[in-house]
Amino acid sequence: MGFFWRLLPVFLAYFSIGRIDAWGREGHFMVCKIAEKFLTENAREAVTNLLPPVAGGDLAAVCSWADDILTRYPWSFPLHYVNTPGVCNYDQSRDCHNDDGVQGMCVVGAINNYTTQLRTFGQPFNNLTESLMFLAHFVGDVHDPVDVSFYDDEGGIFIIVYWYGSKTNLHRVWDVNIVQTAINKIYKNNVNAMIESIEGNITENWNGEIIQWQSCASNDLTCVTEYASESITLCCDYAYKGVKENSSLGDEYFFTRLPVVEKRIAQAGVRLAALLNNIFYRTPKKGSVNLVSG
Ligand SMILES: *[C@@H]1O[C@H](CO)[C@@H](O)[C@H](O)[C@H]1NC(C)=O
Ligand SMILES: *[C@@H]1O[C@H](CO)[C@@H](O)[C@H](O)[C@H]1NC(C)=O
Ligand SMILES: *[C@@H]1O[C@H](CO)[C@@H](O)[C@H](O)[C@H]1NC(C)=O
Ligand SMILES: *[C@@H]1O[C@H](CO)[C@@H](O)[C@H](O)[C@H]1NC(C)=O
Repeated sequence: MGFFWRLLPVFLAYFSIGRIDAWGREGHFMVCKIAEKFLTENAREAVTNLLPPVAGGDLAAVCSWADDILTRYPWSFPLHYVNTPGVCNYDQSRDCHNDDGVQGMCVVGAINNYTTQLRTFGQPFNNLTESLMFLAHFVGDVHDPVDVSFYDDEGGIFIIVYWYGSKTNLHRVWDVNIVQTAINKIYKNNVNAMIESIEGNITENWNGEIIQWQSCASNDLTCVTEYASESITLCCDYAYKGVKENSSLGDEYFFTRLPVVEKRIAQAGVRLAALLNNIFYRTPKKGSVNLVSG
């Protein structure tokens, strides 16, 4: 009861002003499109085998599936983000839990969870089609700075701001408005042009950094706690910075934050591919995945 009432305003806020589309559909689509380019043959085959028919063989087509099923799987809601108690650092044991205090129920725990499930490739204890679609989405979310953000303002949802004069909130600015303004203003309404530009930056400007993005020297299952730490730092340094309730945000904010957004989308794509390549390093066993791919 108490739990429900505490969450109700949050649910309403999400459904009416859109936290559920973290990175927005375009942002997630771009992350998965970029990831596809970096998959090894084995990983590409495993992914293709696991995708539901509706994807038409394209991971990017179901990259927002985890948002689409939120009403069907309300338990998965806290897996899209993680909040800190108003501090600019991430602490796994302090921060990664749902509102009931269940440890691991946050975006970091979810990425480790679905990575573990996919590693049991061929053992149909879980629906691996869903594991893959969750994983692809959550690797995007953990790179979105406002998805690793403060508890009190619900990751910026409660900070009303004006984006080129239109009322929105700080969370939505990062999920949707910056990406959409870029597509409209810079890429002539062509999302593929934005993807190509980011891919161009990956192979040229960021070429020296890619190895480091891909590498994961941790003894943990994944390096996702590092990605969460990066996000909360960026959230403090770029998202919250200089923003108050009712702030008017326009060109100055847009042009200084867009490079951060583009780089996070690039890193998410490269790292999603690295994770999948690592999970599916073996040649897929034909037939085994069909048991769970519907
Ligand atoms: C792990 O995945 C299962 C199956 O989707 C789900 O029931 C569980 O809540 C998940 N836990 C986390 C921490 O993601
Ligand atoms: C990305 O590439 C574009 C050209 O497509 C260039 O204008 C921009 O400065 C690059 N961004 C970074 C951060 O290197
Ligand atoms: C923001 O604007 C609303 C409505 O105009 C107003 O009620 C509120 O007090 C303002 N908040 C601040 C911090 O100025
Ligand atoms: C696995 O999940 C997908 C997506 O929710 C669903 O379409 C499919 O029917 C499920 N497969 C099984 C065997 O339950």
